[in-house]
Amino acid sequence: MNLILLGPPGAGKGTQAKRLQDRYGIVQISTGDMLRGEVAAGTEIGREAKAVMEAGKLVSDDILIRMLGARITRPDCARGFILDGFPRTVPQAAALDRLLAEKALKLDAVAELRVDDGALVDRIAGRYTCAKCGAGYHDSFQKPKREGVCDTCGASEFIRRADDNRATVIARLEAYHRQTAPILPHYAAQGKLRTVDGMAEIDEVSRQLNAILDPIAA
Ligand code: AP5
Ligand code: MG
Repeated sequence: MNLILLGPPGAGKGTQAKRLQDRYGIVQISTGDMLRGEVAAGTEIGREAKAVMEAGKLVSDDILIRMLGARITRPDCARGFILDGFPRTVPQAAALDRLLAEKALKLDAVAELRVDDGALVDRIAGRYTCAKCGAGYHDSFQKPKREGVCDTCGASEFIRRADDNRATVIARLEAYHRQTAPILPHYAAQGKLRTVDGMAEIDEVSRQLNAILDPIAA
């Protein structure tokens, strides 16, 4: 099963993608995580992407399309994938159609997580992840069971993203509305777009996604 998770910054794409990965045995492909990996490794792509990401703008389509094309042919994608953060522009959506056609792959569904702008700034400002395994948490909405200890791997070090501050979040939201939301009609026209209420609690959002995806996965 091949999916796209769409939604603004802080909508819960990463949170839900990790759950879908476990439930359906398919792999999460987060272009944001891939770019942060390039930045941390100091590669040429990372050097180009760093300032753009910290300004809350989008990295060039060329870079992203090349990265994604290489990623979806890796063996771990054989059972399917969840695209988290791609496509994000109309040219990226068109390039994905071409890539899938070339590789004889089918897109099964596009799930849009719809969340009010007002809720997103609080979600992002409170977010942190485990430095060791990447599990995601939130100061108010998703605390570890034992304070300061990761539920998944037991580590006690956590990190916050460089672009998770109020000013950058506003720029990221603006980029979403101007450049990413215009791809929604592209998938509606293909009959693949399904919208879930991303304002609901995390478990409820998962229930809504599972109700859509279980029949497709069966
Ligand atoms: P990326 O890493 O994709 O960031 P984003 O789209 O801004 O989305 P986030 O990761 O911030 O949010 P999320 O939806 O994953 O939410 P999460 O589950 O963490 O991209 C970063 C940057 O990379 C971009 O700005 C751009 O520069 C570049 N980039 C990446 N892809 C690109 C592309 N294709 N083209 C060009 N540039 C690209 O949840 C957020 C918080 O809320 C968490 O703390 C979580 O615990 C909590 N939470 C989640 N769900 C709920 C809920 N239902 N209720 C309450 N709290 C919740
Ligand atoms: Mg994310």
